[in-house]
Amino acid sequence: MRPPRTYAGTRTAVLHRGAVVATVPVALAALLAGAGPAGAATTGTPGVGDPYFPLSGNGGYHVGHYDLNLRYDPTGRRLDGKAVLTVRATQKLTRFNLDLNGLKVTALTVDNVKAGFRRSGQELIVSPPRALNRNQTFKVAVAYTGVPGPVIDPDGSKDGWIPTDDGAFVAGEPQGAMTWFPGNSHPKDKSSYDFTITVPQGRTAVANGVFLGQKTAGGRTTFRWRQTEPMAAYLATATVGKFKVEQYTTPSGIKVYNAVDPREAAASAAVLKKLPSVLEWEAKLFGPYPYRAAGAIVDRAPQVGYALETQTRPVYDRAPALSTLVHESAHQWFGDSVTLTSWKDIWLNEGFATYTEWLYAEQHGGPSAQKTFDERYATAADDALWSFPPADPGSGANIFARPVYDRGAMALHKLRTTTGDRAFFQILRTWAAQHRNGHGTTAQFTALAERVSGKDLDQLFRTWIGTKGKPSAP
Ligand code: ARG
Ligand code: ZN
Repeated sequence: MRPPRTYAGTRTAVLHRGAVVATVPVALAALLAGAGPAGAATTGTPGVGDPYFPLSGNGGYHVGHYDLNLRYDPTGRRLDGKAVLTVRATQKLTRFNLDLNGLKVTALTVDNVKAGFRRSGQELIVSPPRALNRNQTFKVAVAYTGVPGPVIDPDGSKDGWIPTDDGAFVAGEPQGAMTWFPGNSHPKDKSSYDFTITVPQGRTAVANGVFLGQKTAGGRTTFRWRQTEPMAAYLATATVGKFKVEQYTTPSGIKVYNAVDPREAAASAAVLKKLPSVLEWEAKLFGPYPYRAAGAIVDRAPQVGYALETQTRPVYDRAPALSTLVHESAHQWFGDSVTLTSWKDIWLNEGFATYTEWLYAEQHGGPSAQKTFDERYATAADDALWSFPPADPGSGANIFARPVYDRGAMALHKLRTTTGDRAFFQILRTWAAQHRNGHGTTAQFTALAERVSGKDLDQLFRTWIGTKGKPSAP
């Protein structure tokens, strides 16, 4: 009855194109880390130890703030950037890595002094003029230029800087942030952001957080944005296009900024009107909306095939269905505010956002969540839905596949029917509150569920998120 989710095409690609790139050895990160046998390493690691994406993120430091200055020319597709990172060393550092894929670095300083650097694949390896001490705060400034493009994910989908006919669709899950700015590109590290983006007059550049203003001079317009609450790099956007802009403040004080491709305006108007009421409905279920800003970026980007919950302001590749708006909005709590520390835990994002769609339908004249559950359960035992456990997708090629979304949602429905509505919603609200603007793991979630409900839920979670194959009973 509701149109299929837009990532359906991608999802098929997942299952058929999988495995090829999926098994970069976990040991690689450790090998490249250069940690001496004595263990007193003074070089940051090239990854944070995520088995699915061993080179994503970097060890040895935390980025507190990104100040991104970008200029994009949609005709030549050239991006000129200057990124200033405010960083704190978490160990002594004679050398550290940033993630940056493609693009040419033209200058690099640490605390305003020229630093040595070299490139190795997606790693930008920085040698500061003098060693940085543990807990030292320093600024890294990187000037760069080039023609950015997306990365191809293990499932065959594209993410990162994806050019469109009038600009670029910018979405970085799971690894595309490195295609347009240097940084610590793993969700384990969350930071605040400032964006200053210059585009030809007539185009609009939309990023995360609060819109601070725009200025036009010499045929170019500069847009300024500020994301105050911590954000994972994959949730950053700087989407550029010809957009119709709408701004208002909701009754509860959230600043809304919508940017809509005029070609998608008619098809998206009715759904976008519901954004404040969707956020309000979700806030009733999950607790206060985590941010001061909200909105939507509705682009026309058929080559993308999915929407992304970019923080405060999801980016849609086309006019979204209401269920998609509900889904990306739910991610503001589950994924954006409460962020995973390892891609293996992706069901904490997608299972929760999908179950929110079921709940929305249930409370707005659609099928009950039980009915949706029953329909999914009727899926044949040899279907891909049962091909791996939601909490153990096995590789980066599977993180956006059906078991994560649908079986993840089924697991939450089982939790709800086992604990009762009262305890279930208490669990969700406590989860969102205790990990707000931070991180959460599957083990923390299951422990919380047991604590709040007072029930032993071992068997339930083992069956529904920890085991592959169709459970013998619904
Ligand atoms: N998190 C997005 C959603 O469920 C999907 C992102 C898919 N990304 C990708 N590279 N295939 O709405
Ligand atoms: Zn999602």
